Amino acid sequence: SKGCKLVGCGSAVPSLSVSNDDLAKIVDTSDEWISVRTGIRNRRVISGKESLRNLAVEAARKALKMADVEPDDLDLILMCTSTPEDIFGDAPKVQRELGCTKSQLAHDITAACSGFVLGLFSASCYIRGGGLRNVLVIGADVLSRFVDWADRGTCILFGDAAGAVVVQACDSEEDGLLSFDLHSDGEGARHLGAPINDNEINDLLGSNGSALEFPPKRSSYTCVQMNGKEVFRFAVRCVPQSIESALEKADLKASDVDWLLLHQANQRIIDAVATRLEFPPEKVISNLANYGNTSAASIPLALDEAVRNGKVKTGHTIAASGFGAGLTWGSAVIRW
Ligand code: ACO
Repeated sequence: SKGCKLVGCGSAVPSLSVSNDDLAKIVDTSDEWISVRTGIRNRRVISGKESLRNLAVEAARKALKMADVEPDDLDLILMCTSTPEDIFGDAPKVQRELGCTKSQLAHDITAACSGFVLGLFSASCYIRGGGLRNVLVIGADVLSRFVDWADRGTCILFGDAAGAVVVQACDSEEDGLLSFDLHSDGEGARHLGAPINDNEINDLLGSNGSALEFPPKRSSYTCVQMNGKEVFRFAVRCVPQSIESALEKADLKASDVDWLLLHQANQRIIDAVATRLEFPPEKVISNLANYGNTSAASIPLALDEAVRNGKVKTGHTIAASGFGAGLTWGSAVIRW
């Protein structure tokens, strides 16, 4: 079968930096509590005219530039986001803003913090099975719009960002997407979500539970709700297993891998997974301290930083894993 590989990456973050001390002015928390429990010190938050879409477009332009691929050379744009600016999807608008003129397919993928890994898998399938040549995968989220800034249990964790890669068809000997391992568990959805507002569904059904009202009311979603302890346990249990099975499919051992690149949710999760898989700290990529949990953007953002600062070099092998709401989780073994 055909090969496919990553040929460029890029990222973008909002200009406003919000420190733990800044948060301590709006909720009952402290720099010490947040940094000890999560490793997060700062996060970026959109303001003014910044938006999900313009972060996505900026990250995409940088990835296209590194890949030396023109917008019209793209056959597909995958926008991995759970915080779209249009519930029908943002990818076609990103396509237009990038200046694509060929009406190539562009669609969204919704899978929270696992979105980018699913995007990579989708890109590889479209290329290997669908004959496409260049696929742009964007991971972008603006969770600052969907958290309750009065809830210290969640608002301290998240930041806004976008990251992007170009996945390109190549000979099978050059293949750079070596294996995947992907899962979901709707049973765990109760631990983390931002569901449609229950009260409104209840209103809609009427007090006796039958749908008597017409037309229905306009719906809204709740803020991000999370049982942190359960999510923590889930990540520490499922992520090492998933990485192990992805490595097995690629016929590699953890010691063959140059970099462990996890979704940046909590430094304690990253450390626990690294310890379990016996990755020494110097092989673990982490930029959580500066950006917090940026959901679907965290893996491509950290990858882009590590490529541009010379950590990740051509030929290096990366074990990447995303995990989060859904619940969803998934790993990819990447050769850069
Ligand atoms: N500042 C100060 N105190 C706080 C804060 C805060 N920001 N938040 C909670 N507390 C308090 C709690 O009220 C509690 O007080 P109590 O003991 O008097 O009841 C105490 O601190 C301990 O709270 P816990 O929630 O038990 O703290 P825990 O050690 O579990 O840490 C945390 C919480 C950091 C959220 C952790 O559970 C975690 O990181 N979980 C994983 C979250 C995650 O990774 N989500 C990723 C998925 S995101 C996505 O997919 C969209």
